[in-house]
Amino acid sequence: MSFAIALHMLAAVIWVGGMFFAYVCLRPVAATLLDPPQRLPLWVHVFGKFFPYVWICVVTLPLTGYWMIFNRLGGMAGAPMYVHIMNGIGTVMILIYMHVYFAPFRRLKQAVADQNWPEGGKKLAQIRMLVALNLTLGIITVLVAAGGRYMAVT
Ligand code: HEM
Repeated sequence: MSFAIALHMLAAVIWVGGMFFAYVCLRPVAATLLDPPQRLPLWVHVFGKFFPYVWICVVTLPLTGYWMIFNRLGGMAGAPMYVHIMNGIGTVMILIYMHVYFAPFRRLKQAVADQNWPEGGKKLAQIRMLVALNLTLGIITVLVAAGGRYMAVT
């Protein structure tokens, strides 16, 4: 259990923390300092570094989560409400990430390869919106997961 929760937490920290840094810190600075021909390749390379770690996180989170549910919490029926909420929001987050990876990120890479900056700008805007959504869901999940056990509703 200690190993599973440690891995689970590490994956959540890397994924949500990475989105926070990208969205809250890097995005406004890149948007202010760089024009599309520099900014769009920057994001392709930044995502190219970050997304392999996110893939590890989106595999690790459900694996360790379900391991804890079925080995420690007595299965889904025995799991407290905050774990069901985490499972639901976590699954939505993973689906949103996979959509980002396979749809707008691929098209962003293609647009940058073609030096099609207007098209790349549209794809980056889509990614920005979906990352904002996933970051919000991730913060809610962390709050629910960490505070849930101390709340009256179980
Ligand atoms: C995808 C499906 C997921 C499942 C099935 C799942 C399941 C679980 C389980 C069973 C626990 C242990 C609860 C306990 O000991 O009472 C846990 C803890 C935790 N989970 Fe998840 N989880 C999932 C996704 C996520 C995601 C996406 C995040 C963050 C973005 C997250 C953040 C956390 C945190 C911060 C804790 C620690 C709570 C604490 O012990 O204080 N989980 N999760």
